[in-house]
Amino acid sequence: MAMTQDELKTLVGRAALDYVKPGSIVGVGTGSTVDKFIDALGEALKADLKRVAGAVSSSVRSTQRLEALGIQVLPAESVTSLGVYVDGADEIDHGGHMIKGGGAALTREKIVADLAEQFVCIADESKLVNTLGKFPLPVEVIPMAAAQVIRAFGKLGGTGKVREGVTTDNGNVIVDVTGLQITAPAQFESDINQIPGVVTVGVFARNKASVCLLGTAQGVKTLTF
Ligand code: A5P
Repeated sequence: MAMTQDELKTLVGRAALDYVKPGSIVGVGTGSTVDKFIDALGEALKADLKRVAGAVSSSVRSTQRLEALGIQVLPAESVTSLGVYVDGADEIDHGGHMIKGGGAALTREKIVADLAEQFVCIADESKLVNTLGKFPLPVEVIPMAAAQVIRAFGKLGGTGKVREGVTTDNGNVIVDVTGLQITAPAQFESDINQIPGVVTVGVFARNKASVCLLGTAQGVKTLTF
């Protein structure tokens, strides 16, 4: 019987445990797939199979889940480097570049990812694409710049819209941009970072995945970049 998307997420969440060294501090992303990774960390802790020294979290949501399991969450500023950062993606291409930010946590995700030597992306196979851009690109923007940023994306052929009812953990808004085809992610990321008011663009090219654990009907497929 085919596995549900939820079961695929559980599978890759568990598989990511293999990348976490016992006694290390692990970087933890945000989202429904990461929730499964946090569950797996909790199960490993309970069964006394693997214990981490702590975690650096990319969102209030993940922090709450980690702390509920008794895992200490350290502030990012207290850590100089992390071995591994585990996070999901909204899209990942065959080069390991990603679109992230569906859960609005992209800025903290990029900060924590940047601390890590290895980015382990966990995703179900629906996230693998040839070209990034079908998923509306999240961009965290300082509120007063939102209209200006939307106009700038208009010139690039995109249509931006402020995500209703969402304020980020940093007090900003999210502009979701549709109609883009991101064929050169690294250049695109640099270009968008130049628009005044853009805090973080949801293209992760500089901080791309090192490994993607992809949940497929045949099991976990490991892609390395
Ligand atoms: C959170 O801001 C995002 O970057 C998530 O990593 C991404 O949206 C994947 O989320 P799911 O695992 O819930 O699909």
